[in-house]
Parts: sequence; C-alpha cells; structure tokens
Amino acid sequence: MYRSLGKSGVKVSNISLGTLTFGHHSRPGNCTEEQSHDILNRYVELGGNFIDTADNYSQGESEKILGSWLKSIGSQRDSLVIATKGRLGAGREGEVNGRCLSRKHLVQEVEESLSRLQTDYIDLYQWHCWDKTTPLEESLRTMDDLIRLGKIRYFGVSNFCGWQLQKLVNLSKVMGLSPCISLQQQYSLLNRELELELQDVCINEGVAVLPWSPLKGGWLTGKHMNRDTLPPPGSRIHYASVNNFKGWESHTPLSQYANMEQVWELLDKMKIIADSHSKTMSQVALRWLLQKDCVTSVIMGCKTIGQLEDNMAASDGWELSSAEMNELDEASSYPLPYPFKLQNIVSGHCSFNNSTAVHKSGISS
Ligand SMILES: NC(=O)c1ccc[n+]([C@@H]2O[C@H](COP(=O)([O-])OP(=O)(O)OC[C@H]3O[C@@H](n4cnc5c(N)ncnc54)[C@H](OP(=O)(O)O)[C@@H]3O)[C@@H](O)[C@H]2O)c1
Repeated sequence: MYRSLGKSGVKVSNISLGTLTFGHHSRPGNCTEEQSHDILNRYVELGGNFIDTADNYSQGESEKILGSWLKSIGSQRDSLVIATKGRLGAGREGEVNGRCLSRKHLVQEVEESLSRLQTDYIDLYQWHCWDKTTPLEESLRTMDDLIRLGKIRYFGVSNFCGWQLQKLVNLSKVMGLSPCISLQQQYSLLNRELELELQDVCINEGVAVLPWSPLKGGWLTGKHMNRDTLPPPGSRIHYASVNNFKGWESHTPLSQYANMEQVWELLDKMKIIADSHSKTMSQVALRWLLQKDCVTSVIMGCKTIGQLEDNMAASDGWELSSAEMNELDEASSYPLPYPFKLQNIVSGHCSFNNSTAVHKSGISS
C-alpha cells in the first residue's frame, strides 16, 4: 500500500486524498469544513498518509480547512505527507506578479500556504503548471533554497508537457539542484495523454506519476450510464452538465460524451469487470491506474465517507488480471496522433477529447 515517492526516500500511500472540493460548500459536490474534517479523519484511520491541496482550491479555503485539521491533530501531522501547489495565486489573479514561478512569487506563495496550513513545513511543493515567462534556472534555484531553508521537503510539478519535464530534469542535474520527484497529471480511463510522452520521461528519470481526477470527476464511478438523461442531481457531473462547463477539466459536462459511443461502451465494460470481482466501477478505475508501471499514488476526490471507503478499498488485496487490463486498455484506446503512430509503441493511446474516437488503437509501426 505504501510506495516510495519517485527517487526520494519518503513513502506514501498508493491512494492519496485530494481536497479540491473542500470549501465553497454551496457548490454541489463540495464539502463543508466539518464534512472535510470527517473525511480527513477517516482517510487516516484507513491508513492513508498522503494529502493533496493547492493555494487556489476554493480560493485558499481548502488549505485553510486542511490547516485547521492539521492543528487539531497535533504531532500526528509529522506522520503525514502534505502536498500543495503554487503558481496560480489564490486571490492574486489580477496582479502582474501574481501568477508565475518567479522567486518573488514562489517564496510569497510558500509563506502564505504555510500560514493557511498552520504548519512549519510542506512535504511536497508542486508547481501547478509551466511558466514560460520565468527562467527555469530561477524557479529551480528557488526550490532548492526553500528545501535548504526547511520550508519544503521535496518538490514536484503538475500539468507539464513531455519536453518541459525532460528539460527541467536535465537542467536540475546540470545545476546540481534538488530533483523534481513527482508529476501530478490528469490520467484516467477517460484521459490517457500522459502515455504519449510523459510516461517515458517519468519511468526513465524516476519521477513518480500522481494521477489527478482518476474517476474523471465522477464519470467513471457508474453513477451515470445513460446518455439520454442528466446525471444524478447533487453530483459534480450533474452540476457540470447543467452549466455546460467548457475547458474545466475536472468538471466534464454530459454534452462532451453524449455522442461518443466509445465512452458508453467503456462504462459497460467496466461494469462487467467490476461485477465479476464483486467490486465497484470506481475501484476498477482506480485499480487500472494503480497497476500502471509509472503510477505511484492516485489522487482521488470524494464527498462522503462512503465514497472514501469505496475508493480506499481499491488500494490492495485484489488485482485486475492482465487480460482485464488489456480489455480496458483496448476499450479506452484512441488513434495515436502523428508522429507517435509511426513509432514502435505497443500501448499508450490518447484520450476521448475528440469526436473521432474509435475503438481500435490505429497503431502502425
Ligand atoms: N493538478 C491539477 O491541476 C489538478 C486538477 C484537478 C484535481 N487535482 C487533484 O486531484 C484530486 C482529485 O480530483 P477530482 O476530485 O476531480 O477526482 P475524481 O476522483 O476523478 O472525482 C471525484 C468525484 O467523484 C465522485 N466520487 C468519488 N468517489 C466516488 C465513489 N466511490 N462513488 C461515486 N462517486 C464518487 C465525487 O463527486 P460527486 O459525489 O459529486 O459525484 C467526487 O467529488 C483533487 O482533489 C486535487 O487534489 C489536481
């Protein structure tokens, strides 16, 4: 259940708790402080030790809710691995220096996160996404300094492209700086772009992959299997569908999938596999990720204790067979874009963000 986080010595549970939906509780799918604390308590009781948040989740409220809970547990905080992110600036979106990876902004962000989290150190500090306006050397040196100062223990990145991660890894080696130990990236049966390039960089360089939205915000849980009706009221996918969100990756509307036959066939396939193991579809979706070589810990979200317990039960004690893994790979496969289809890649196909999705991989080598 516990795995080393990339090339570091720190061990994390293979299912991490995401806190994107802590705070802003008037929005369907989000949690009050009390609900969030109950989820955190139960997660730790079930053996979880890895918790992910970000400066901008619920405009800083997620970090604050996590912070009030960390304070309440006292020295038990030291047994946990607390991850947060910076770059997007909670409440500082309009400021000229408010959303970047500059030394000025990163140091300020770390100080503010420490204050909201009510802790002396952050275990894993992640850049929320690439910043083409700041020299990479400056951002890397800042991470190294923050590690030496004891403000953060390790650093990682999120939402990167393959070339960006490889460049970062190479440069930090040349400069002799603390390495990036993890990549937090969207990855699920409904989004497999990570497999195009990042998967190889991570395996080759010992960078841990931490998939976010592993249940695609609820689509892979089986709560909605019918393209002709709206998802169940109160769920995130209902809220996204009614508001027809566009470009908000963790809240996907029904309109994106309604005409995609492959999505509904994938859900049917997952249901058959889940039933044959007496497991839930959520557990199958999480297990598929956990059995991928590059994945270290899957960052799931949940709204209730029941969902949390359901998801945590994917962590160990059973496995998908290699035949089932292949079936799921095939059911979620996608034609590789040029030039990937010309290369001798035997697995790793794209995602569903395109209406031309087909069942076969379309690989030619
Ligand atoms: N780095 C980034 O840019 C980035 C972006 C997004 C997220 N993240 C991280 O990834 C974490 C997880 O993302 P996510 O919340 O989108 O993940 P997710 O696990 O794909 O979706 C979670 C949602 O699915 C539903 N659900 C969860 N378990 C269920 C179960 N067993 N049965 C039925 N429904 C279930 C719940 O929504 P309903 O009950 O409302 O249906 C829950 O809010 C976040 O908290 C955050 O830490 C990072």
